Amino acid sequence: MSVTHNDNETILGRADLNDIEAILAVTNTDVDEVLHAVKDNADAIFTWDYSLTRPALRKLYEKAKVGQWNSTTDLPWDTEVDPEKVVSGDQVAIAAGIDPNHYDGTVLEKWDDKQWLDYGIQNRKWTLSQFLHGEQGALLCTAKIVETVPWYDAKLYASTQVMDEARHVEVFARYLDEKMGGGYQVNAHLRMLLDDIINDSRWDMTYLGMQVMVEGLALAAFGFMHQMTEEPLLKQLLRYVMSDEARHVAFGVLSLKEVYDGMTDAEMMDRQEFAYEAAVRMRDRFMSQEVWERMGVNPRDVLPIVLRDPTRDLFQQMLFSKIVPNCKKLGLLDRNEQWLRRRFEEMGVIQFEDWEDTGSEYIKFELGSEAPSPIAGA
Ligand SMILES: [Fe+2]
Ligand SMILES: [Fe+2]
Repeated sequence: MSVTHNDNETILGRADLNDIEAILAVTNTDVDEVLHAVKDNADAIFTWDYSLTRPALRKLYEKAKVGQWNSTTDLPWDTEVDPEKVVSGDQVAIAAGIDPNHYDGTVLEKWDDKQWLDYGIQNRKWTLSQFLHGEQGALLCTAKIVETVPWYDAKLYASTQVMDEARHVEVFARYLDEKMGGGYQVNAHLRMLLDDIINDSRWDMTYLGMQVMVEGLALAAFGFMHQMTEEPLLKQLLRYVMSDEARHVAFGVLSLKEVYDGMTDAEMMDRQEFAYEAAVRMRDRFMSQEVWERMGVNPRDVLPIVLRDPTRDLFQQMLFSKIVPNCKKLGLLDRNEQWLRRRFEEMGVIQFEDWEDTGSEYIKFELGSEAPSPIAGA
């Protein structure tokens, strides 16, 4: 008997993936909010079985212990950063991966170099801010995993990730504050996704939402910014963060492989839908509506064109270069009549399915070696 999947309306709250009005209707209504509470709905699990039964996780734990770095003393915080200089130097960042020539006939046609540069700076601040908020999401999710995962080896490993995420939150917050003159509030789509992940009572969903989807995307995004920027502090900061992040994604892939291999079709269906929803929420966030608003542009005037900008499209697709092979390895693409494969085809990201998955690739990200190119899987 085949399992029926929900439709877009049920999963996403809209029938059309590219319904811009519906995407923009999700906004951050309380930008002055300082504390945000989410129910985490889960039991804390003790295990009295202290035997080492998962060598792959144990190896990761040993790697994590020697891979620690000190965010205060290992980074050149005395570097002077002039955002205008840095962003105009980072050529690709000037238009943040969009092609200015594509916007003739819109308000952007009249933008001068100064406005494009300003857009680049705002976009950099916004992007780093969403990294920061995502890092705090990872901190909370992984602390939750320490409590909820029933495996001893996984509890030990997760505890090292909690410390890693503390460093990541610290370095992005400090960089934004000291070098960029402040950042942006959390994007509403990102917050909705983080809330959903924390909210779910099933421990494997925390892993799927955070380690596989959010961190998989982050690893790709950090890789691009690391490759593109010539700003030495940011470059080194990202290199350090990536060395941790690759382990985190591996932690998700190695743990979930064991769990998903034993799941029924109906159980897998829930995971496939969750992965799809997470992918779409992250895609929605790339509309960066807050940046357009800050630039005095109504997002409705430009987003239909942004969606069809080939430069932008290519850049956005690349952000899924880690997620898709990892989902494939976990069996999420092809179970239940290839449901998630079809969705990733619609999103234009299926071409990454045979790129290297992160279950073993993490070794290449270790400090002391050159980080793999973000397009190395091609
Ligand atoms: Fe992180
Ligand atoms: Fe992480």
